[in-house]
Amino acid sequence: NGHHASSRGALIVLEGLDRSGKTLQSSRLLSYLEGERIPVELWRFPDRSTCVGQMISSYLSNKSELDDQTIHLLFSANRWEKRSLMETKLRSGTTLIVDRYSYSGVAFSSAKGLNIEWCKAPEMGLLAPDLVVYLDIPPEKAAARGGYGGERYEQLEFQRKVAQYYQILHDATWKSVDACLPIEDIEKRLRELAMDCVTTCHKGKPLSQLWL
Ligand code: TMP
Repeated sequence: NGHHASSRGALIVLEGLDRSGKTLQSSRLLSYLEGERIPVELWRFPDRSTCVGQMISSYLSNKSELDDQTIHLLFSANRWEKRSLMETKLRSGTTLIVDRYSYSGVAFSSAKGLNIEWCKAPEMGLLAPDLVVYLDIPPEKAAARGGYGGERYEQLEFQRKVAQYYQILHDATWKSVDACLPIEDIEKRLRELAMDCVTTCHKGKPLSQLWL
């Protein structure tokens, strides 16, 4: 019927420091929503499968050097190259869970010393998330979880700065969840937040654009 034809999916973003549990929680949320018969896909940025994504991947594993501005714009381009597919999916009713998005882009590059407004500029016009869940973890605790794989940004001092920039980016669509809670508690909170968001989007909340 008409209502269903016009109902769109939700854009749900998970953000947080490295080792905050985003990847685990996004795959658990995916299984849950699938079980609820909600059309849903799990995406992540950087999307290392594209040409741009391969340049990013090589940079992150220290196999290539790029200046800070260049890698920043590549991360942004990697979101832009997925934008139209993202919009098509959402408009056709598919909910997207996205592991990292523009907030990572701005927080990590600003933490290197780039101007925050300069960092936000290339993100303007990307689709705005309907919900951003920030998995909040003290940098020391994240580091103590181990498994920093040796990629470029996985160092305590740097993650401390990233955490400060994430705080600056906090806006009305953000929900902070304590990432030190038991995994099941975080999972439950995420389910509630996601279901509310999916319902609101089905009811006709318009898609909007980031930082315009
Ligand atoms: P990942 O471990 O989630 O694949 O992310 C790789 C690293 O890239 C992580 O340290 C965060 C960083 N990053 C940016 O610096 N800018 C971005 O736009 C994104 C999406 C990630």
